[in-house]
Amino acid sequence: MQYLAFGLASMLALATTGLAQNDVQSHPFQLVVHSHHHKHNGTALGACHEGAGIEGLCLGGGSTFHFNTSKNEEATNEFAGKTGVLTYSLVGGNFAESQPMRLVYNDASNVAVPLFEPSADYTAVAFDKHNRMNIQSYYDDTVVPVATGTKAYYRWYVCETDAGEEYTTLAWVMGEFPPQNPSCRRVQVIREFV
Ligand SMILES: *[C@@H]1O[C@H](CO)[C@@H](O)[C@H](O)[C@H]1NC(C)=O
Ligand SMILES: *[C@@H]1O[C@H](CO)[C@@H](O)[C@H](O)[C@H]1NC(C)=O
Repeated sequence: MQYLAFGLASMLALATTGLAQNDVQSHPFQLVVHSHHHKHNGTALGACHEGAGIEGLCLGGGSTFHFNTSKNEEATNEFAGKTGVLTYSLVGGNFAESQPMRLVYNDASNVAVPLFEPSADYTAVAFDKHNRMNIQSYYDDTVVPVATGTKAYYRWYVCETDAGEEYTTLAWVMGEFPPQNPSCRRVQVIREFV
């Protein structure tokens, strides 16, 4: 009975995700950091081990990523680009698993860390007309009442983080205030097709 219930639940889950499947895969690309901090400028991001089957986005290494979108969805902001899933293929001895990126939050901080994990959850990102990675939001609560309309944000930083291991990684800062982690340096993340 338990197995039957589980089977039904996963069939339902498949049916739901089937509606907006992010299965249109881009050409492979690297993510290159542009920064006023010349030590970081021009460095490509690499997937780095944070835990079992979990990778962060470390400064250096230069891994290849893909961008998965849905053929049913259009960009709501033409300049900022269509939203989708940043993916990394974790390759083992006898497997290759396409993993989605999601931001992992710490309730005590305004600095979130992107991780690739064996999960269906992802944080939607987009690439604008200049190939700059952004995150879009429909609600702007810096004004009252909340303003609406899709806007792109570019709140990327390179920081010393610990999401399993102590590394220099890409991070995302929530809201308009500076990161509370004093090591963070402002960057742009640029997609460069390989
Ligand atoms: C990305 O798209 C490819 C091609 O459809 C698919 O094989 C892969 O599983 C997708 N990855 C994710 C994380 O959705
Ligand atoms: C960063 O690199 C870009 C291109 O590689 C270059 O045009 C720019 O001048 C560099 N900026 C700094 C501050 O080094």
